[in-house]
Amino acid sequence: MITGSFPTTRLRRNRVDAWTRRMVAETTLSVDNLIWPIFVRAGDGEPTPVSSMPGVVRVGLDRLAAHVEEAAKLGIPAIALFPATPTALKDAEGTEALNPDNLICQAARLLKAEFPDLGLIGDVALDPYTDHGHDGVLRDNYVANDESVEILERQAVNQAQAGIDIIAPSDMMDGRIGSIRAALDSEGLIHTRIMSYAAKYASAFYGPFREALGSNAALRGDKKTYQMNPANSDEALREVAMDLDEGADMVMVKPGMPYLDIVRRVHDTFHVPVFAYQVSGEYAMLASAMELGLIDRERGILETLLGFRRAGASGVLTYFAVEAARLLKASAG
Ligand code: PBG
Repeated sequence: MITGSFPTTRLRRNRVDAWTRRMVAETTLSVDNLIWPIFVRAGDGEPTPVSSMPGVVRVGLDRLAAHVEEAAKLGIPAIALFPATPTALKDAEGTEALNPDNLICQAARLLKAEFPDLGLIGDVALDPYTDHGHDGVLRDNYVANDESVEILERQAVNQAQAGIDIIAPSDMMDGRIGSIRAALDSEGLIHTRIMSYAAKYASAFYGPFREALGSNAALRGDKKTYQMNPANSDEALREVAMDLDEGADMVMVKPGMPYLDIVRRVHDTFHVPVFAYQVSGEYAMLASAMELGLIDRERGILETLLGFRRAGASGVLTYFAVEAARLLKASAG
């Protein structure tokens, strides 16, 4: 036997020590890739835990700045705000979405004053505000597209006027990106960006989020007439093409881990900034397994986030954002 003559190529050479592994790494993960979703609630006092999402809380306006401070200091570029609207303020038309003093608008004004360099993302959809839990208004028990879009335009303008930098329509109505862009522009809000939830699937993984916002109990039926069928991939490209054509600056794929193939296709087809949402159910699944000691927490967090980057995502909306940013900072030494 002639030792060393076979195999000529040994891929393990590039894995032999840490510095070589770092040098040949194809993908990077940094704090710049992290977006932190936050649940805002009415009332003051201690943040209240979301029972299905260990470690995640709903925070009142009096504690909001304190809650966000570490994220800002760590250099997380943007946070995404979601309101847990009091039931008494919900109605069939989602009227509270248009209130210039609703939770999101108050949070935006407060955070802009406190952290001017932190990007604020506002979710545009009516589900936190409707008593039936749908993202638009119901007509004959169907979520009416065009009437919903007319309200969403005004919701977007309301948020942007309060200081939201990036409007993120998550409603999946047809034509809403173009209408929202036109509405923003007509108010002179030309710098307000639009990150469209372009390929958003009707998913089982949103359950804990709906608990966090209290829209779960309320939801009548499901969202399958507007959110995408998990069976479809070509259709995601049509959704993205349409939103880009209507003026989206960035697009999103949601959920995340079960849809990394979609992230890859969107990235390779359009070469635009694409974000992925590691949604509440993914967080709950991972956090529960980590609590049980089944998955190593630090490695698990970083590996899943790196997976999004490898699939082509510019960034990830993740409830692990602050923890991941801490880990990345510690490893940078
Ligand atoms: C609302 C919205 C949802 C999420 C973000 N925006 C829920 C839904 O569509 O029912 C889910 C986020 C998560 O699960 O973390 N339009």
